[in-house]
Amino acid sequence: MTSYLVTGASRGIGLEFIRQLSQDPNNTVIGLVRSAAKSVYLQEVSDLPNVHVVEGDVTSVEIMKKAAESVAAITGGSLDYIIENAGGAYGADTSFANPNNDPSTLVEELKGNFELNAVSGVITTNAFLPLLRKGKAKKIIFISSAIGDIQFTRVTGFAGTAAYGVGKAALNFIAQKYASELAAENFVVLALSPGFVDTSSTKEGDQTQPSEEDMKNLQAVFDQWVKSQPDWDRKPLTVQDSVTKQLKVISTVGPKDSGKLLSQNGNTAWL
Ligand SMILES: NC(=O)c1ccc[n+]([C@@H]2O[C@H](COP(=O)([O-])OP(=O)(O)OC[C@H]3O[C@@H](n4cnc5c(N)ncnc54)[C@H](OP(=O)(O)O)[C@@H]3O)[C@@H](O)[C@H]2O)c1
Repeated sequence: MTSYLVTGASRGIGLEFIRQLSQDPNNTVIGLVRSAAKSVYLQEVSDLPNVHVVEGDVTSVEIMKKAAESVAAITGGSLDYIIENAGGAYGADTSFANPNNDPSTLVEELKGNFELNAVSGVITTNAFLPLLRKGKAKKIIFISSAIGDIQFTRVTGFAGTAAYGVGKAALNFIAQKYASELAAENFVVLALSPGFVDTSSTKEGDQTQPSEEDMKNLQAVFDQWVKSQPDWDRKPLTVQDSVTKQLKVISTVGPKDSGKLLSQNGNTAWL
């Protein structure tokens, strides 16, 4: 059996990882969620014999230590792959120099994004490292974003979601630091961007249609992003497509790419 832990498995990209990985009966798939009772979409697959659910918040050292004990009890003490997917934008979607910014709110958002998207990566990795050292694959995957890539930002001129970008940029650096430190133990560590993904099929959502102004703002963002990939069709990927592509990258990535940020395409085509 090959064991996988996916954090943030209640919905979105994390849930789709559980769905696709659990289709192979030779996989033991463990989803980490903050609340099993509230993870209604996960319940559709959690009855499968090779799916397990463990509760935990990735920003707590103590809770992640306990989660690692629960995972060890399921797998017999080892873990082959960890997919650290929990995370996301904390707070508003603002740029740094927006005159409407409240300075204290901006500071709070910087700290919140750093904790959720970067510090959590160190907490989670260190909690599970003893299990991963006993695993066969030794792969640590951080789900990151091109929004945290300096070159993408430079090429596109995209100033939005600034505090989130700082959190993911720090996560990309964390991936390289672990890659450097664990290379001698044959670990492969990757920051992996999932693309621009429509996750609405995996959650109960606000089904309100975007307003005319929302659409105008979105088109302005797309006008910038397309500069990084002129043939982009301006459409989000489906969550199924993104995860299928990411799993291919995860299975094929080797030591020469350890520490990099790669896209769902295994390169720097981010969209
Ligand atoms: N969707 C995109 O286009 C896109 C693009 C680039 C990068 N990403 C990255 O991909 C990852 C997944 O994104 P998504 O779109 O699937 O997001 P999502 O639908 O908002 O799901 C986020 C997941 O993270 C969990 N989570 C949040 N805070 C947590 C915490 N403190 N402890 C444990 N779990 C926590 C959530 O659990 P609860 O249900 O308990 O809230 C949920 O399962 C994120 O890291 C995101 O930054 C997404």
